[in-house]
Amino acid sequence: MIDKEILLKAFATIREAILICSADGNINYTNSAMNRLFGYEKGELLGKYPSILNKGPRPELVTKEINSILELKGYWEGKINNKKKDGTGFISYARISALKDREGKIINFISTQHNITEQIKMEKILQESEEKYRKLCQSAMDGIYVISVDKGFEYVNPAVVKIFGYESEELCREDFDFFKLVHPNDQKLIRNRQKARIKGKRLPSRYEFRIITKDGDTKNIEVNTVLFGRKKEKILGVMRDITKHKKIEERLNLNQMMLEDSERELKSFSRKILAIREEEKKNLSTILHEELGDMAVGLSSYLASIEKDIKIHAFENAQETIEKSKSLLRKSISKLKKIAVDLRPPDLDILGLPGALNEYFLKFHEYVKLDIILQLNNYKKKASDKTEIAIYRIVQESFKNIIKHANANKAVLSLSSDEEAIILNISDDGRGFEVEKRSHKNSEQLGIRGMKEMAESLKGTFTINSAPGKGTKILVKLPAE
Ligand SMILES: Nc1ncnc2c1ncn2[C@@H]1O[C@H](COP(=O)(O)OP(=O)(O)OP(=O)(O)O)[C@@H](O)[C@H]1O
Ligand SMILES: [Mg+2]
Repeated sequence: MIDKEILLKAFATIREAILICSADGNINYTNSAMNRLFGYEKGELLGKYPSILNKGPRPELVTKEINSILELKGYWEGKINNKKKDGTGFISYARISALKDREGKIINFISTQHNITEQIKMEKILQESEEKYRKLCQSAMDGIYVISVDKGFEYVNPAVVKIFGYESEELCREDFDFFKLVHPNDQKLIRNRQKARIKGKRLPSRYEFRIITKDGDTKNIEVNTVLFGRKKEKILGVMRDITKHKKIEERLNLNQMMLEDSERELKSFSRKILAIREEEKKNLSTILHEELGDMAVGLSSYLASIEKDIKIHAFENAQETIEKSKSLLRKSISKLKKIAVDLRPPDLDILGLPGALNEYFLKFHEYVKLDIILQLNNYKKKASDKTEIAIYRIVQESFKNIIKHANANKAVLSLSSDEEAIILNISDDGRGFEVEKRSHKNSEQLGIRGMKEMAESLKGTFTINSAPGKGTKILVKLPAE
């Protein structure tokens, strides 16, 4: 048996506050930690009732509970509202035990206590901040969820419910199959992540995948995750619906590709145009050189022979050579005229567009066996020079195509105008072709593209309709001004 003195000395040194009462409730021992806890001097509490330490009367119920439990279990523990000597309240966690004699009669109560006011405050703060976070999560625009590796969703906020279309109770059911939410094409990606995580590999915390909603829609989501829990068995995730972003991104990419295609086509087109221009210049210079060169050589030799004939009075010879010179000049002039006509149809100035077209087809008939019907009478309002030249060139290009590709028997050209627009229709009954296929196939072909560009550069439109065996129809609309 330990000496009572030694026990009391030990009590005096420990940090836990200790109070001992007699069976009738008089305090007969407090250790220094107890005095400090309640702000009393040493010995000041002796002989007092413990209720002086309580804030307000000890509730009847608590007293009864303490007594009955003491009877039954021999001790009671719980929170007690206390007050210090100066009246400041605090809460302590107390354990009260009954010390009994051999007959089982209570001889003393011993109570140990410690101040838990701070702890309670902390708990309250924690609880409040948890509440706050929960509220924040509830109203967050982004989906916030907690997933545990073996139990699935533990928490989902309303934004997650909105994204998936499932109620939170459904998502958080233990038997809910998470993979039901993952798009079939992205299941492998998610499973691989799972496997890598189990192996402890570091994974990018941000990733994207497609989901299937309750309604069966596909959505793109972006997810950011962190692992937590003692064994990192939980995932806290923030998810965002990026379906719209994705669609815009896809459209942008598509536009970008189309732009690049057009740029490539444009480059090859302008290369071809440059080549054509160079070719034209070369032709023109050759023709000019040949025609004018021949004429110059011819004329100078004629002039020399005329001079010689005049000197020897051979006037008849001279007259003959003058006639030859005249004829050479006439020929050369008509050749030069033809060159000029090719460069710009002069009939337009003199005859007007319908007249120039009539002229063109008159010559055309000389070479081609094709029944051509011209409907030009509804062309009343004269368009600008540029527009008329464009129409003339489009007609030339279209008929070149008819001759080259259509194998047609009949072609109809109709030209009409009103205050607003000039309308040109050209149709043939030839073999026709697949317009779409052609436009992607051969960027070297310039006829149709050139006509379209010409019409569009004048703020007009060019449409071509054709199908194999159905002939071809071209419609050009140009603004009148
Ligand atoms: N009237 C038509 N009937 C049948 N096929 C046509 C007709 N017009 C055009 N095509 C088809 O469309 C293609 C493209 O015509 P386009 O005028 O652009 O080029 P091209 O005539 O082949 O070459 P280019 O005009 O550059 O000398 C032709 O190769 C031909 O297959
Ligand atoms: Mg062509």
